[in-house]
Amino acid sequence: MKGLLDLSDIRQKLNTKIIGKEIRLFEDIDSTNREAMVLGASGAKEGTVVLAESQTGGKGRLGRTWYSPKGENLYLSIILRPPVLLAEAQLITVVAAVSVAETIKKFTDIRPGVKWPNDILINRRKVAGILTELASGNDKVNYLVVGIGINLNMEISSAPEEIRGIAGSLKDFTGREIDRAGFLATNLSEFEYYYMIFKAGERQRIMDIYTGYSATLGNRIRVRSLEGSIEGIACGFNMEGGLLLKRDSGIIDTILAGDIEHIS
Ligand code: BTN
Repeated sequence: MKGLLDLSDIRQKLNTKIIGKEIRLFEDIDSTNREAMVLGASGAKEGTVVLAESQTGGKGRLGRTWYSPKGENLYLSIILRPPVLLAEAQLITVVAAVSVAETIKKFTDIRPGVKWPNDILINRRKVAGILTELASGNDKVNYLVVGIGINLNMEISSAPEEIRGIAGSLKDFTGREIDRAGFLATNLSEFEYYYMIFKAGERQRIMDIYTGYSATLGNRIRVRSLEGSIEGIACGFNMEGGLLLKRDSGIIDTILAGDIEHIS
């Protein structure tokens, strides 16, 4: 473990108007998303960030866990109060994915890929993941938490065996230590930039950038759900970030959520 994050260092590097104006930093926590949901319920301001050096119960999508060793990576959750319907909320995950991809590009000169919906990959290895959770009423979002985990400096050789073959860190690919405070500040500023575009209703612009990063588009994929599994070619995205899947029969399905497997 290297030096711990320093709030004044982060604030000095941050040039946002809303996102990260309030940061709660924890040395150890179960999950920043859980904490952020609690803070959201008690009225925390839009843009509040919950940040942790380590998580003992980091949450991944679909009930998985997120490996969160201390002082090496970034684990953060952003509390948002977007004035949108539930159906539009998925686009915030797209905003987060774009912000992480852009930040990686700026910091490493490597252009990552995004596996739908929100796995950030370099050379097919997952370097970051996003988990969005929300509270709603009357079909509207009350508040929303977008949780981002980015593997910056962890040594893949010391990660648990079950992720050693699929995960990677930016340090693995660049051979150098990434400045965590600097990466965080840039990521929050990228997030704010795209979140403002989202709030201004310019969805096409966000989806165009997301599409440019897509590692899924054009691939043959398998989607598994409780109803069974379907296969087809990923042929596009809709305006809410849903995946368009063209089956061999020619029928196009829209997949709104789930887990996909790239077959080719
Ligand atoms: C996934 O790809 O499965 C999503 C991983 C999301 C992990 C982050 S780490 C910070 C935030 N707090 C959590 O408990 N999970 C998210």
